Amino acid sequence: MEFGPLLYALLSVTLLYFIISLPSGLYRQKLRHIPTVGGPSLPIISYYGAFRFLFHAREIMQEGYAKYKGGIFKFSELGHWRVIVTGPKLVDEFRRAPESVLSSSEALREMIGLDYTLGLGMIHDPYHVQVIRSRLKGDLGSSFHEVRDEIVASLNDELRSGSDGNWSRVPVMKMAYEVVCRASNRLFIGLPICRDPDYCALNKSFARDITACAKVFRITPKFLKPVVARLLPDVSKGIDRGVRHLEPIISKRLRMLEDLGDEWTDRPNDMLQWLIEAARGEERTVRALVIRVLAVNLAALHTTAVSLTMALFYLAAFPQYIGPLRDEVENVVREHGWTKAGLDQMNMVDSFLREVMRASGMSTGTMSRIALKDYTFSDGTFIPAGTHLMTPSGPIFADDTVYPGASEFNPWRFSEMGDQGDHVKLVNTNVNFLSFGHGGHACPGRFFASIKMKMVLAHIVMNYDVKMEREGVIPRSTRIGHICVPSTRAEMLFQQRSPHSRA
Ligand code: HEM
Repeated sequence: MEFGPLLYALLSVTLLYFIISLPSGLYRQKLRHIPTVGGPSLPIISYYGAFRFLFHAREIMQEGYAKYKGGIFKFSELGHWRVIVTGPKLVDEFRRAPESVLSSSEALREMIGLDYTLGLGMIHDPYHVQVIRSRLKGDLGSSFHEVRDEIVASLNDELRSGSDGNWSRVPVMKMAYEVVCRASNRLFIGLPICRDPDYCALNKSFARDITACAKVFRITPKFLKPVVARLLPDVSKGIDRGVRHLEPIISKRLRMLEDLGDEWTDRPNDMLQWLIEAARGEERTVRALVIRVLAVNLAALHTTAVSLTMALFYLAAFPQYIGPLRDEVENVVREHGWTKAGLDQMNMVDSFLREVMRASGMSTGTMSRIALKDYTFSDGTFIPAGTHLMTPSGPIFADDTVYPGASEFNPWRFSEMGDQGDHVKLVNTNVNFLSFGHGGHACPGRFFASIKMKMVLAHIVMNYDVKMEREGVIPRSTRIGHICVPSTRAEMLFQQRSPHSRA
């Protein structure tokens, strides 16, 4: 069967369905009392705003924030209105609202079409979140050195061609993805699978397939979703491929656990083992565990690879900061070696990464929620059940009253001592720093992400000179709605430093 024409036909039906049904739906949502930006709020022509949003999300967010800062505004996205909650007081209320009222899992369900991709087990029993939260917060124990080992090995592989003393051109996003995938899976499952090219390729394509499905599901009306699901990239084939890689390992571990129970003293200390031990009932099967491993990768890889890519772009585009970073890393490593305690002392590296997250404008909005019940904010704004909400992370980052000189890239912004004599760390969340969310659902993997990104940046400044393909120019990112991806083609130049120029 030819799927292409059928898919187009379905999408046309979908579009027609929206044109006819959505404006009335919008009005049913009783959101008329909330001011609109980005386009008209009248039926049918509100679609103009929804299409504009695809290409001008940042400007629309900015416009709403400038007009209604401290309050609440809305704009049209394809399929629904998006309500944005601004100002420290309301954002704090927003993050404190219980899951049963402003639901993060319902937003996730819709965002990645869970019903048709990974299944609802992810939200009915999100035990992986608890595992990540409890196991990845501290110093990672002995795994710290394994992760560092994998980072060094993968950087050596990726930057190998620079070893002859010449500058080598490296596609940064591809390199960041590879390093993050190998380092993460060294902790998730260990050697040798973390280096298996097909396993790494699977994790990358799986994320791409889910994202592709999610984009289509977002604009597909409920009644067409089961049909559309059959025409999209087959997520279950990706799961089958994961099963082929992991089945022998998981089956063996399940057997060992059954036979030895607590007497299994030399059990592996990795994510897969933690997941196996935390899984209950139906979740403790090979396929369900494979889905969980793929889901953890889905949450961990793209986010970290994007942030790391942007950090490397900034490093190369602002070469004046390489020297101070290098001094800090060399001093710390001399005193503490490559340890978690040492990494904690790298305040400039930490601040550099946090400032890139702020200044790079990658994030327009975070903390997507769907209201399951009616809710009224303290300013009197009524939010009916069914409303899609978010916080304006991007406009806050660009707000001069929150971040003085916001348009400037100031890499030491967060390492300079605050009033309390404290540094603000990369992993700290607050109402003005929402890249990892804030509150009960704040990213539980951010401590691990921070360790990986700091290790990579520190290793690179210590061992390589870098420059941008076009001096001082940060490659343009691609934006569609809330999604922002760094240039996947942009290359950076790396040159290995000679041993005597290193401390
Ligand atoms: C720079 C890297 C990362 C960024 C920017 C990031 C960002 C985020 C954001 C914005 C959220 C949603 C917060 C909310 O809705 O309130 C989130 C949730 C989550 N992240 Fe991350 N993340 C990163 C790395 C990771 C890593 C490495 C892992 C896993 C090891 C991970 C696992 C998760 C999980 C499981 C959730 C869902 C938490 C929940 O539902 O309670 N993330 N992340």
